[in-house]
Amino acid sequence: MADEPATARALLARAAGVVVFTGAGVSAESGVPTFRGPGGLWKAFRPEQLATPEAFARDPRLVWEWYGWRRDALAACRPNLAHVAIGRFLLTRAGVTLVTQNVDDLHERGALEAATGLAREGRLPAAGAAGDAASRPAPERGGGAAPLLDDEQPRAANAAAAARAAPIRLHGSIFHARCTRCGARTEHRAAVDASSLATLPRCGACGGLLRPDVVWFGEVLPEGALETAFAAAAAAEVCLVVGTAGAVHPAAALVDETRGGGGRVVVVDPGETAYDDVADVRLWGAAGEVLPGLLG
Ligand code: APR
Repeated sequence: MADEPATARALLARAAGVVVFTGAGVSAESGVPTFRGPGGLWKAFRPEQLATPEAFARDPRLVWEWYGWRRDALAACRPNLAHVAIGRFLLTRAGVTLVTQNVDDLHERGALEAATGLAREGRLPAAGAAGDAASRPAPERGGGAAPLLDDEQPRAANAAAAARAAPIRLHGSIFHARCTRCGARTEHRAAVDASSLATLPRCGACGGLLRPDVVWFGEVLPEGALETAFAAAAAAEVCLVVGTAGAVHPAAALVDETRGGGGRVVVVDPGETAYDDVADVRLWGAAGEVLPGLLG
C-alpha cells in the first residue's frame, strides 16, 4: 500500500503550478456548517426558499434574516489550521492559486495569521518574491495616506501579504452586498435589521435594495472568476481538492480542467466526494489535521 501522504507531498513538491480548490469542508473545523453533510445547512433549510433570486424577490426580509444569522455565526468563528496552512503555502510557494466556493472570509483571515506567523519567523517573502500569488498588486492603502508609524508597518506588510494570498471567489462573499437597482457592489458587515422592508440594507449610491453578493442557485458566477480559475486549473500540474463534495456546477468541473491538461488530483476529505474515482491520491481525513503536514 503506497504511502499516500508522502506521494501527495512529492507531487506537490515537484509541481510548478498548483491549484487549491476548497469547499465548505475546509471551514467545518471552525464551526461553520457545511451544506450537505450531517447538520448541513441544506438539511435544516430549503435552498429554494433562501438561496435563489426568486426567493429574494418573494421575501427579501426572510433571506436577509438568514444571511444576517449566518454572518453573526461566522463572526464568532476563527480560521483553523487548514486555512493557515493554505495561507502559508500560497505565501511561500510560487505558482499556487487558491479557488474557493465558500462565501466566508476565513481564507483571508487565515492568510493574515499565516503572514503574521511567517513575519515573526522572519520568513515572510517580500512582495513579488514568491511567485504569482505574491505578484498580485498590494491593495491601495487609500490615496495619499499618512506614512505608517513604526508599529503599523509590520501589520500593514502582513495585511498586504495576506491580500496577495486572497482566493478567487466562485460563489461570492457573504460580507459583500450588491445593489438590486444600480448593481453597485460594496463590502457590507453592518448588522442587518430584517424586521421590515424599510429597515433592510440600502445602496449608498441610489438607495436601491441591497442583496447579499453571493451566487444563488440558477445564477451565473462572477464575471471572469470562473475563466481565471479554470485557466489556472488547466495550467496546474496538481489540483488539491479540499472539503467539497463536488456536487455543484460549474465550479465542480474545475478538477476536469487539471485532468484535461494531464495534471494530477489530490483529494482531502473525511467523507465521500464526486472525485473519489478520479483522484490520484486520496487522503481520508479532516483538512485541519491533514493540511499542516501535507503543505508544511
Ligand atoms: N475537512 C475536510 N472536508 C470536510 C470536513 C473537514 N473537517 N468536514 C466535512 N468535509 C467535507 C464533506 O465530507 C463534504 O465532502 O466537506 C464537503 C462539504 O460538501 P458540501 O456540504 O456539499 O459543500 P460544498 O461542496 O462546498 O458545496 C458546494 O453548494 O450549496 C452550494 O453554493 C454552495 O458553495 C456551495 C456549493
